[in-house]
Amino acid sequence: DLSLEWLGMRMASPLYNASGVMCRTREELDAVAGSAAGALITKSCTLTPREGNPEPRYHATALGSINSMGLPNEGYPYYFDYAQQFDYRKPLFVSVSGMSLEDNLFMLADLRDRHLPCLPEINLSCPNLPGKPQLAYDFAATAEALEKISQVYPGAFGVKLPPYFDPVHFAQMAALLNRFEGLRFVTCINSVGNGLLIDLASETTLISPKGGLGGLGGDYVLPTALANVREFARLMPDKHVIGCGGIKSGAEAFMHILCGATAVQIGTCLHEEGVGAFARIQHELAELMAQKGYQCLADFRGRLKTL
Ligand code: DHB
Repeated sequence: DLSLEWLGMRMASPLYNASGVMCRTREELDAVAGSAAGALITKSCTLTPREGNPEPRYHATALGSINSMGLPNEGYPYYFDYAQQFDYRKPLFVSVSGMSLEDNLFMLADLRDRHLPCLPEINLSCPNLPGKPQLAYDFAATAEALEKISQVYPGAFGVKLPPYFDPVHFAQMAALLNRFEGLRFVTCINSVGNGLLIDLASETTLISPKGGLGGLGGDYVLPTALANVREFARLMPDKHVIGCGGIKSGAEAFMHILCGATAVQIGTCLHEEGVGAFARIQHELAELMAQKGYQCLADFRGRLKTL
């Protein structure tokens, strides 16, 4: 049994898409909605539509992916309208990633006023806007953003975090997030920002924007993702952690949940394989659970053993 309930929502499976993958257009969103995914999330939106960065801006390798998309999206009304007419029986999340705090507050005020059947995942961690740092690496700016967001948006919301690499940062960010009651979930992790992948034969970067720097996903990031899920789950026992990073089979999904993830998102693997990845990984996860004698996700969620 792969089903779960959280924040009053029921999911038949813990798997859904990572924001950015298969979720820019209605057609893509409907494909995820009509698949075995347990939920879906929209592409991070801004106040007005954006074309994004110059191409090539995504490249996959045997070990993962690099991207510097630059927030190409149809503008927030497109996604809020999608939510308004959404009639699949699975949870819908909308990713909100304004170019400024004011833009985020404006979009969240509209979301509040429209009473849509969806929850916002507020993106504090886009690494691909030239000249704009990832907000959640600035702890004071993150606190200010969450204070203002909490004043504007009365409902449950989540945040998408970048990876952290130091126990002091885990502790400081968790303490900060724990102050906000409306913050019900954190998604760990966004891509590992500003990596560099090189084609050896041509001695060239794999993508064009930012001199080739881009966010890494896939196998490259799994250990970092697991550490972030584990530490935030441990340090924020009253919040949900959604795992994201390096899931390509039942094994990695199991590890994320073992680290404490309530549900998990698939990015690079979904981009490369398409929506068939959901049914395949679910089947693998169910088989693994059966082998280990687990009947439901709660039997092993957060039960990582240490030496
Ligand atoms: C983009 C990438 C991200 O990692 C993110 O969180 C938001 C947007 C992008 O480049 O489009």
